[in-house]
Amino acid sequence: MGVEQLRAHVAGELARTRRRSAVLTDSVDDEDLIKQHSPLMSPLVWDLAHVGSQEELWLVRDVGGAPAIRPDIDDLYDAFKHCRKDRPELPLLGPAEAREYVGTVRDKVFDLLDRVRLDGRRLVDQAFAFGMIVQHEQQHDETMLATHQLRTGAPVLTADPPPVAADAESLPPEVLVPGGPFLMGTSTEPWALDNERPAHQVEVDAFFIDTTPVSNGDFLHFIDDGGYDRAELWSSEGWAYRCRAELRAPRFWERDGDRWLRRRFGHVEPVPAREPVVHVSFHEAQAYATWAGKRLPTEQEWEKAARFDPRSGRSRRYPWGDDEPSPEHANLGQRHLQPAALGAYPAGAAPCGARQLIGDVWEWTATDFLPYPGFSAFPYREYSEVFFGPDYKVLRGGSFGTDAAACRGTFRNWDYPIRRQIFAGFRCARTPRAGETR
Ligand code: AVJ
Ligand code: FE
Repeated sequence: MGVEQLRAHVAGELARTRRRSAVLTDSVDDEDLIKQHSPLMSPLVWDLAHVGSQEELWLVRDVGGAPAIRPDIDDLYDAFKHCRKDRPELPLLGPAEAREYVGTVRDKVFDLLDRVRLDGRRLVDQAFAFGMIVQHEQQHDETMLATHQLRTGAPVLTADPPPVAADAESLPPEVLVPGGPFLMGTSTEPWALDNERPAHQVEVDAFFIDTTPVSNGDFLHFIDDGGYDRAELWSSEGWAYRCRAELRAPRFWERDGDRWLRRRFGHVEPVPAREPVVHVSFHEAQAYATWAGKRLPTEQEWEKAARFDPRSGRSRRYPWGDDEPSPEHANLGQRHLQPAALGAYPAGAAPCGARQLIGDVWEWTATDFLPYPGFSAFPYREYSEVFFGPDYKVLRGGSFGTDAAACRGTFRNWDYPIRRQIFAGFRCARTPRAGETR
């Protein structure tokens, strides 16, 4: 891409992203914007101004070298200074002020984008800082979508239903990924974040992985078989959580006579059996996998299944190849406000045959969020480094609420193993029995 093409691409991504933020914040009234829908989440108006604040810090001030627009609000929108549950009590910008603020910042960023050199400094090389800010806003758009899911009341968001699967019944339940080395992570993807770097070779033994995520129908069998009442299926930490939180079904499900209903962005509807299960914690995913005689894939296994092409021996950017995601490949970008049925997106299949690795639901892996060998924090420790350790589990692949700009074969998300309000599901894996790989 030439430099003028790159500027046009960045401008398009910034504008597209802001249109989504506007949908998420303009679809509710001011009262709704400033209120806290759950102690787990910020008021929507906090996310909006926080997006502007990060854009001011990194692009206007750091890249642009311009004076601060609103130095007085830095502290209010610093995610490390105030936890989510305390944010509604802060003297936040109101809805009109927040909109004006993000607009002012954006105007300055468009001016900067026209004239800034996109080389010479790592922060601007290939427009990295702009890409980081696009991804940051998209990540908050997914967070805001999770807030919409927690809000009660009549639906305010609309979207078309996702495509249906043509050949779901003929798919094998699991596929084999042969053992051997593959290149994990990336050193070349221009907008990859620090935790995806550097590329490094890893040795992965042969494993089977489910062709599709676990469905609601599958998960119902686990529930009906007493899965939530059998301590032996759960880790000790998971069982303690199950008891403390009195879990008995995925979040947003409710029992109605002999069937289950779910609430989805204000719609109450029967749980669709063929759709990937969503809003389950890591602990529920792990208990299900044990019940099924399987386990969760490791992060390395997940990425090998998603990226490794055995014919060329190289790792692809996405399961389907190196092309950017299109609506034929994956359910991304809030085009649909639910996961697609199992087996959808045949054009997005990985070389091993697994489907829906990208989009639909984030997938819990068995792995703690840790740095790759050779990791170095860039451009700030608070994006990834301060979260490394055993408290967080890695999620892969993005959901229907994730934008393509914030999702790649190498992209790593992380959260606490008890989290359920995120758009997370899972698929299972297993180690082959003796003789099974031949
Ligand atoms: C990568 C989704 C875990 O939301 O906490 C947003 C992304 N970092 N602002 C989060 C993020 C700073 C992050 N996750
Ligand atoms: Fe943030």
